[in-house]
Amino acid sequence: MIKWEEKGGIAMVKYAFPEGFFWGTATASHQVEGDNNNNDWWEFETQGRVKDKQISGKACEHWNRYEEDFDLIEKLHNNAYRFSIEWSRIEREKGKFDESAIEHYRDMLLSLRRRNIEPFVTLHHFTNPLWISREGGWLNEDTILYYLRYVEKVVSSLKDLVTYWTTINEPNAYAFTSYLLGMFPPQGKSLKKMVKVINSMAKAHGKAYKIIHDINPNSQVSIAYNVMIMDPVNPNSVIDRKIANFVDGIYNRLFIETLITGRFSGPFIKEDIPYAKDTLDYLGINYYTRIYLGLKTLFLALQNKLYDYPEGVERSDFNWEIYPEGFYRVVKRFWEMVKKPIIITENGISDAKDTKRSKYLISHLIQLHRAIEEGVDIRGYLHWSLMDNFEWADGFQQKFGLFEVNFQTQERKWRESARIYSEIAKNNGISEELEKKYLS
Ligand code: NOJ
Repeated sequence: MIKWEEKGGIAMVKYAFPEGFFWGTATASHQVEGDNNNNDWWEFETQGRVKDKQISGKACEHWNRYEEDFDLIEKLHNNAYRFSIEWSRIEREKGKFDESAIEHYRDMLLSLRRRNIEPFVTLHHFTNPLWISREGGWLNEDTILYYLRYVEKVVSSLKDLVTYWTTINEPNAYAFTSYLLGMFPPQGKSLKKMVKVINSMAKAHGKAYKIIHDINPNSQVSIAYNVMIMDPVNPNSVIDRKIANFVDGIYNRLFIETLITGRFSGPFIKEDIPYAKDTLDYLGINYYTRIYLGLKTLFLALQNKLYDYPEGVERSDFNWEIYPEGFYRVVKRFWEMVKKPIIITENGISDAKDTKRSKYLISHLIQLHRAIEEGVDIRGYLHWSLMDNFEWADGFQQKFGLFEVNFQTQERKWRESARIYSEIAKNNGISEELEKKYLS
């Protein structure tokens, strides 16, 4: 137990985290930078396909305001920050790299380093340059080669400043929403295409892993993997259990199992990908919620209404169930599967009024702590998100920020949960007072 003094009093840290634990937040280029007008999302938005015809536009102007935002990160007592590099800025046209964009990311990294904030850099976070999507996106196998050329360029330019690389953000969620549910560009609605995209992304990751290590052997490479708890609607129903297990297999296991075994074993495609085997130095996990699957929800899923919760379940503004114990279940499960250090690359809640976020944060961290106590090697927690931002097909209404953003003035405002997070990071743990105040 560690003691610390604050405001004249002595408080006890009841849930102490390991020394050197990474406390941070996460963002993604298209959601915060602004003026990302050269990718498939921009095109999608300007065609009026986002809720209420919103466009990402200036977003949080993070591209120009990153110093101000890094000041906030310092005030959060954070020692880590996850952000992504926008491929469509680096390679606006096929094969033509924009050195000034690379320089800009260098400046961001230097600024983080000056502040002793460890950068976690994502190389692909949902968006593709327009020229990539025009050539067929991730259904075109050449995209793998283009992606690798881009990775090589970026990593060799920034290798002295970055240790932690994330090759691809949520390949499973990306394939699912873009190619099966039709919610993200290119609005595919085919299981076969979805499986193909997961397959291509596993190949891309496997090759990128080697490229990054060849450039800098000290690199730590992973993906950020979205894991959802998928429980059967009716645990006594064989068919519900089978459906839950089938979707869980494709969504939660297929990609990761390929990286463990070197064998891709999905519906439609069975293939050895030997170079993808053992290509995780750590595992990045994004955890938010649980869904229930069964005969009934499968049809809901096809109409993009995946969430069929029992009465009385506490939910976020997004309608996602708040299920802290799921966090424990997820990290335990993936630790058993992967046996590699885990870093939570995302976890958070859409909660505009900030009435649930502090409780969400504390209850989830306590579940994480429980897993650590039981021997799971968890090295960091990166909260989604630093500030409100462009939440993809749902636009700006869903607010995940520790900081509230006024999108007219670009003012950032502290939410209560940001203060709580700052206290937790500063003390490297959660006090009994905090637990009592928010959980009882
Ligand atoms: C996961 C995605 O990586 C991120 O871009 C998104 O905003 C959050 N989940 C919340 O939906």
